[in-house]
Amino acid sequence: MQQKKKDQKSESTRRTFLKSTGALAAGLSLVGRSRANPVKPETLALNGGPKAIKTPPDSLAWGRCWPLYGTAEQEAVLEIATNPWGGPDPWGRSNSIPLLEKEWKEHFKVPYVRAHCNGTAALTSMYFALDLPPGSEIIVPSYTYWASIVPMRLFGLVPVFVDINPRTLNFDLEDAKRRLTKNTKAVMTVHWIGLPCEMDHICDWAKEKGLIVLEDVAHAPGCSLKGKYTGTWGSMSMFSFQGIKPLPAGEGGMGVYQNREDCERATMFGNYDHVPSSFWKDSPYKKYGSVGVTHRIHPMAAALARCQLRGLEERHAAVVRNVRSLNDRLVQLPGLYEQAARPDMTRLYYLWNMFFIDEAEAGMSRAACVKALQAEGVRTRLFSYTLHHKLPLYAEEKWWHHKPNIPELPGSEEANRTAIPLPVFTSAVPELVDQYVKAFEKVWAHRKELA
Ligand SMILES: Cc1ncc(COP(=O)(O)O)c(C=O)c1O
Repeated sequence: MQQKKKDQKSESTRRTFLKSTGALAAGLSLVGRSRANPVKPETLALNGGPKAIKTPPDSLAWGRCWPLYGTAEQEAVLEIATNPWGGPDPWGRSNSIPLLEKEWKEHFKVPYVRAHCNGTAALTSMYFALDLPPGSEIIVPSYTYWASIVPMRLFGLVPVFVDINPRTLNFDLEDAKRRLTKNTKAVMTVHWIGLPCEMDHICDWAKEKGLIVLEDVAHAPGCSLKGKYTGTWGSMSMFSFQGIKPLPAGEGGMGVYQNREDCERATMFGNYDHVPSSFWKDSPYKKYGSVGVTHRIHPMAAALARCQLRGLEERHAAVVRNVRSLNDRLVQLPGLYEQAARPDMTRLYYLWNMFFIDEAEAGMSRAACVKALQAEGVRTRLFSYTLHHKLPLYAEEKWWHHKPNIPELPGSEEANRTAIPLPVFTSAVPELVDQYVKAFEKVWAHRKELA
């Protein structure tokens, strides 16, 4: 409902803008041409005209440098190589790991954390920490990365696939309400490509139904909803430091826990060296030692993650400014929508700057539009993300405590039918932004013939 209202509001803003520029009359939106003074649009590159994108596609000129490492990262890694015995523990390991955990707690104001060798390890330890009886079900989007779902099976947990909102690519709460079963014990939310899920509504509903809330924050460290960080809404959450992630450290991950027992169970499963010495005296788990595998983070990755944690939000705010310099102009085009964010969300951009086309409103098909944009030099494609509920892994009972239900997920399908991904410009590239706008403008000006 709220989303619909927002769509209507943005639609009326769009129309107001178009009218005010006279662009609607000319069928163009960005240059303010009027019927009285029509400008013949340039020939499409598809039909032999000049390409709109002139900048050669190397990563520097395209503002696509990531990770952004500097002398702090170089020195931190060198320090470990130079002084490997500098740590506080009797085995002589670097202190970068405990320092990362300490600084993470301070930065996000969370009570318990454990660093892991990657995000998947953090997720696996989290699913162990749930301590749910085999056959328990967890609601999770099909539109996510493997790691959010697959480790469930190691503990007899079974995914209940939920749809996404095709305009946010995030957890669709209304669909989740329809999918609740008597075995459902938890919901896993995934903040996709930097946009926070509607955690306020999800948490309210989960509380009412007695469900545990988990968060996959691999794509959204430092984002927030209503001023509260992603990864602090659920009872457990995980982060990834994989090399192209928004907080990159080559590899690595972090588990965040709101209560001590969850942290201890996750540690007991995945971190031999913490067991049992670091457990609280009265911990019921102290007696066990480890029961799992070694998921310890590499000290150099921890050192890199510490550097990247500093200035995390500022670094992403700069990327957001670059993206907005493009998106604020593109969203004026009829039938072109960006990933919709609520005004009380602070997001980042990761991997794709995702747009969606409404073919009826745009007056051309996505296929024709993408082909024409590609000819102009725009880096885009007919994007379709892997929907997990359609994979053979979920169709075969042998992998699961019981076979997951394979539903129809129209929102996920719609996202795959309408998405137009653009690159995320990680540094300011005003000329390239102008060229991108020009490319879209040309294609939209020719949309009747493309139709
Ligand atoms: C949404 C999501 N969750 C979890 C992971 C797993 O993180 P890692 O690669 O660090 O194991 C990824 C990695 O791409 C991801 O995209």
